[in-house]
Amino acid sequence: MNTPKTLRVRENFLPFAAPMVGQEEVDAVVECVRSGWLTTGHKVKEFEKKFAEAIGCRHALAVNSCTAALHLALEAIGVGPGDEVITTPMTFTATAAVVEHLGARPVFVDCEPGTLNLDVRQIESHITPRTKAILPVHFAGQACDMNAILEIARRHGLKVIEDAAHAIPTRYQGRLIGTLSDVTCFSFYATKNVTTGEGGMVATEDDALAQRMRLMHLHGMSRDAWKRYQEGGSWSYEILAPGFKYNLSDVAAAIGIPQLKRCDEFHARRLAIARRYHEAFSGLSGIERPATPDMESHAWHLYVIQLERDRLTIDRDEFIRELGRRKIGVSVHFIPLHIQPYYRDRYGYAPGDLPNAYAAFQRILSLPIYAKMTDEDVEDVIAAVTDTLEAFRR
Ligand SMILES: Cc1ncc(COP(=O)(O)O)c(C=O)c1O
Repeated sequence: MNTPKTLRVRENFLPFAAPMVGQEEVDAVVECVRSGWLTTGHKVKEFEKKFAEAIGCRHALAVNSCTAALHLALEAIGVGPGDEVITTPMTFTATAAVVEHLGARPVFVDCEPGTLNLDVRQIESHITPRTKAILPVHFAGQACDMNAILEIARRHGLKVIEDAAHAIPTRYQGRLIGTLSDVTCFSFYATKNVTTGEGGMVATEDDALAQRMRLMHLHGMSRDAWKRYQEGGSWSYEILAPGFKYNLSDVAAAIGIPQLKRCDEFHARRLAIARRYHEAFSGLSGIERPATPDMESHAWHLYVIQLERDRLTIDRDEFIRELGRRKIGVSVHFIPLHIQPYYRDRYGYAPGDLPNAYAAFQRILSLPIYAKMTDEDVEDVIAAVTDTLEAFRR
């Protein structure tokens, strides 16, 4: 082991992720709390309207998480017991858990080794008479091959629900993600590109799906509280279905409105960081940069590098520990779902059944990339990575 003579260490730990919230968000929350209306009301309506305008979609429905959005979308397209939904193992547990909630089975199709997005060439061999939908995830904020996915879905009569938790603002062939498929689901979790703390949004062009999701997101009630409790509103309501409790609060929406306004500014900053990482890591032996044909279309929610294991004397976990010693927070996206005990045991998956996802898992780590990072933070990350590479290169 070639231990570096001096370890360049930051004074403070750089967290892996942090939201960019400022005075405008604080003022918006204070105003909302002072208004006396805390649950779903006019702030949510305003947020939905502005989101629909920003994305260019026909319907936007605010919910309290992307998990809720995915659940509502799958329920609305009629996924039920015995059905199958094709998705990727390279995702967060929520993507597949909601399929299980409906009594259906997530069928994992391997990812491409470079982009870590669903390998569209492997989808058709997994379609059965029980397949109801394809659920692609725009990994790290880079669009999947949507034309191919939509074409396969059309040919086999399947629905497409996009997990766009990372994809604000992601472009596919010049168009923002959010209008391409049956339903697109976004996340406003605290680490996401636009945040409300906890929150999500469903976007659809389909009136019937929008109506079903709106009904189911608030108890399956014919009228929401906002309408019932206004002057002249009626106390009466009907339960049309056993719905969920997935509405977003006005307090959360109040944070989301100024966040959404700054979405392009945040994106420009993440793009600049990605470009700087790309430049600094160009030609470096020991790591591969994220595979991306188009820097600008990528939302850069994550910057995932892959270690060249045969060129290094340490593995991924040790590499992460080394970055930790240099006070740089990192993460791993994702532990593939097919090796998680639940899916492994329930469906009998072996790690090598999805070889690209499994191989990538041994090599990946996600570096900090968020709008709040200073140029100095970015240079510290670069120094920590290059320093670790120099210390542990074969
Ligand atoms: C790919 C993906 N899908 C879904 C989710 C769930 O989002 P939420 O926390 O808003 O429910 C996440 C959250 O990290 C995610 O990364």
